[in-house]
Amino acid sequence: MASKKNLVANRESLAHKVRYAASRPDRIAPYLKRAARDRWLAFKHPDHVNYYRAVMASDTRRNPEAAVGSQTHERWLALGQMQFDYLVEHGLAPGARMLDIGCGNLRAGWRFIDYLEAGHYYGIDISPDILIAAKRTLTERGLQAKVPHLTITKDLKLDFLPDAYFDVVHAHSVFSHSPIEIIEECLAHVGRVLAPGGHFDFTFDRTTGAEHQVLREDFYYRTETLTALAAKHGLRARFMEDWEKLGHGQSKIRVTA
Ligand SMILES: C[S@@+](CC[C@H](N)C(=O)[O-])C[C@H]1O[C@@H](n2cnc3c(N)ncnc32)[C@H](O)[C@@H]1O
Repeated sequence: MASKKNLVANRESLAHKVRYAASRPDRIAPYLKRAARDRWLAFKHPDHVNYYRAVMASDTRRNPEAAVGSQTHERWLALGQMQFDYLVEHGLAPGARMLDIGCGNLRAGWRFIDYLEAGHYYGIDISPDILIAAKRTLTERGLQAKVPHLTITKDLKLDFLPDAYFDVVHAHSVFSHSPIEIIEECLAHVGRVLAPGGHFDFTFDRTTGAEHQVLREDFYYRTETLTALAAKHGLRARFMEDWEKLGHGQSKIRVTA
């Protein structure tokens, strides 16, 4: 499938907003409603993690599947399948240990939990509300015997996790919602928890133009910015060309120690 990414738009610019509003007038009212809610939440929570946690609480109350970015259950299933298939095609074995950063309500997580050996899946998230929804997914799928870890976190220092432990670290659609300081915090610490030969895959919203953000919810980065940041922390970063062929809206980078 061909990629439908718009790599040059600056969604923050007034010109883009006017053009977009003219082409999609049905989206104006929902956008204004979301913008008003986000302003209020940002006013109450100047710190990004607290702000985004409040966004997730509000979105999850309405619909946990939409809160992780899937407007229908079919899309929720398909997006989880895509993440799962990709890693299995890249050699994920049942004996691997996996850290899923920003695991959400286990859109992909339940498939990894089902596939991996008991206790080998470790999901972390900043949102208590989405982790409660994750436990519901786990129960609905009957995966209790796989005893996954589902843990709340406030930062990405990963200091509560052991050295050289995880074969795969994964963050799907998390850095697309993260300011650069949070991405850097993760890259500064992920090398310590990666097992020898392990890798860290993350997706991001890519631009080839000016880096920008929308409503402090969606962040657009140049590939070079993220690969340079990985290098600064002694990691090798590779743009995953084969992921582009799947037609997902975000791009993927693989980091190794
Ligand atoms: C779009 S959802 C994707 C969830 C899951 N990875 C998936 O693909 O279904 C983003 C998730 O990342 C979480 N998140 C956002 N920023 C985070 C951070 N700095 N650390 C950990 N989780 C974060 C959100 O709470 C949310 O559950």
